[in-house]
Amino acid sequence: MATPLTIADLKKLARRRVPKMFFDYADSGAWTESTYEANESDFGEIKLRQRVLVDMSNRTLETTMIGQKVSMPVALAPTGMTGMQHADGEMLAARAAEEFGVPFTLSTMSICSIEDVASVTTRPFWFQLYVMRDKDFVLDLIRRAKAVKCSALVLTADLQILGQRHKDLRNGLSAPPKLTPKHIWQMATRPLWCLDMLKTKRRYFGNIVGHAKNVANVASVPKFAHEQFDPRLSWADVAWIKEQWGGPLIIKGILDPEDAKAAADTGADAIIVSNHGGRQLDGAPSSISMLPKIVDAVGDRIEIHLDGGIRSGQDVLKAVALGAKGTYIGRPFLYGLGAMGKEGVTLALDIIRKEMDITMALCGKRDINDIDSSIISGRQ
Ligand code: FNR
Repeated sequence: MATPLTIADLKKLARRRVPKMFFDYADSGAWTESTYEANESDFGEIKLRQRVLVDMSNRTLETTMIGQKVSMPVALAPTGMTGMQHADGEMLAARAAEEFGVPFTLSTMSICSIEDVASVTTRPFWFQLYVMRDKDFVLDLIRRAKAVKCSALVLTADLQILGQRHKDLRNGLSAPPKLTPKHIWQMATRPLWCLDMLKTKRRYFGNIVGHAKNVANVASVPKFAHEQFDPRLSWADVAWIKEQWGGPLIIKGILDPEDAKAAADTGADAIIVSNHGGRQLDGAPSSISMLPKIVDAVGDRIEIHLDGGIRSGQDVLKAVALGAKGTYIGRPFLYGLGAMGKEGVTLALDIIRKEMDITMALCGKRDINDIDSSIISGRQ
């Protein structure tokens, strides 16, 4: 394939380079995947307003997310097991994001550890927290994120229990992979991926193994989540986490205006309108369809971000027009990483940046900070 021009191109390349069980892990949603699909397709229904003969020179995409400067309003979403898309995946993605001037969010369920990522970056990254039953372990994660000066804590609120993902169950997903004939075949047919993996010294699930009590491995994520994640997590715990962390706090996984109000009441710095990329409650509405309702409910009280289904710079612009101060991409950067390592993450960001820039100009705007609903023509 010639140089990839779209996120869909990167996805095709990733499918060819990454073993099936890990490609499917990225490219799947819960149950029937209806929410996963709606996240993408609902963006297509929003039409943009074309304007002409206005000055389109000197454009800027620079803005802020939670008061931190970003070269465009796009962060890398926290994604578990990113190091299985490409060896040292979290470290490569973090460096690509840093060079691009956008935030990188490290998942609790990452392969590389907080310290691994800190060792290759010079600017603070963000840390995503899953709250476990073992509060000492939660405190230890917060302490480690503070120690490397993470500049935001992203508290994921929509995964007290794991949504059922059929592809992962059918594939027998695990990290490290099981050595059954099926899994060996999947890896043998992806030799470049294997060669990179053989070179890395990273320990699997570096935030957890060696830190969580009585956890020797996380081979099965569903089993680990079932045993360790705290199903009783409630709004009352958010105050405790906020106090322990003491820095900027973002609550991720808000899809309902009532929950948005509760999140604003906690005094958090931002919320992420999100359904976990369609990986949790299948049958829930798309993120972009809920954004206007959440902006109406709390837009004057808390900064609002959005993720889910963003596959182009146009999608980012639509989210910003409808009231999001920032957005996140999950799969788009994972496809880039799987396809081409760090260069692929940079390419994914660059594809989105170019699309956003050109679209903004053709809507007659020059500054991302001036984007509002006036660039939306309607819905079809
Ligand atoms: C995720 N997501 C996620 N979220 C989170 O808070 N912690 C995590 O560990 C993960 N892990 C994870 C793995 C994979 C493979 C994917 C695709 C997603 C959800 C993620 O942060 C984000 O909400 C979605 O990815 C956004 O949707 P798109 O951009 O992938 O469509």
